[in-house]
Amino acid sequence: MSIHSAEELAHLRAIGSIVAQTLQKMAAAVRPGVTTGELDEVARREFDRQGAESSPVAVYNFPGITCISVNSQVVHGIPGPTTLRPGDLVKLDVTAQKDGYVADAAVTVAVEPATMTSKRLAACAQSAFQKALRAARAGNRVSAIGRAVEREVKDCGFEVLRQWCGHGVGRSIHEAPTVPNYYDPHDREVLTEGLVITIEPIITAGRDTSYVTEDGWTVVTGDGALAAHHEHTIVITKGEPIVLTAA
Ligand code: CO
Repeated sequence: MSIHSAEELAHLRAIGSIVAQTLQKMAAAVRPGVTTGELDEVARREFDRQGAESSPVAVYNFPGITCISVNSQVVHGIPGPTTLRPGDLVKLDVTAQKDGYVADAAVTVAVEPATMTSKRLAACAQSAFQKALRAARAGNRVSAIGRAVEREVKDCGFEVLRQWCGHGVGRSIHEAPTVPNYYDPHDREVLTEGLVITIEPIITAGRDTSYVTEDGWTVVTGDGALAAHHEHTIVITKGEPIVLTAA
């Protein structure tokens, strides 16, 4: 969506804050011995308390309140009996809606003690997000975001999983435009003031290969390598974007 009023922005700030608080509570509950199902329960309680609803459930009938993906799982992992162990790399992805407005964010959390690769990969997803944020200005092309992400990820010595992209958001979980994590010279779409999108580097310590497993949801890396994901919902302005899902 594109924001045209203060009221729309207020609604988006409200749901953005709920998503941020939910992610914070889930991340705080990550420890050895906890199951991904228990982390999903943290989200369920927070949504109930705040009067929010899971968008993956509402829109796709996803079998979890949130998406939780561990190690070589990339995105769309189903919460359940999986018990977290020291060294695991956990991606928490929360998309919620309230009063018809939607926000989407993800973080990568390493279960301590974390390996050096886990830490570096999670930090790279975050720094690629930050670099992309600087490129996300009204008047720039959408492809400036992918260019910034791709450059940072290469500099870190990792790879973008090119199949998985950011997207428009705000009134529905997935809206136009698609926001790739790589540079597409043919994409001439321009970022406009008020546009609401996600920026979400999805990266791997291995090669750029991933597929959907037989559960029909979970995406894993094709070579079993670790993946990381960092995401916020933002509003494009002439200056610094408004990050709606920041804590
Ligand atoms: Co997203």
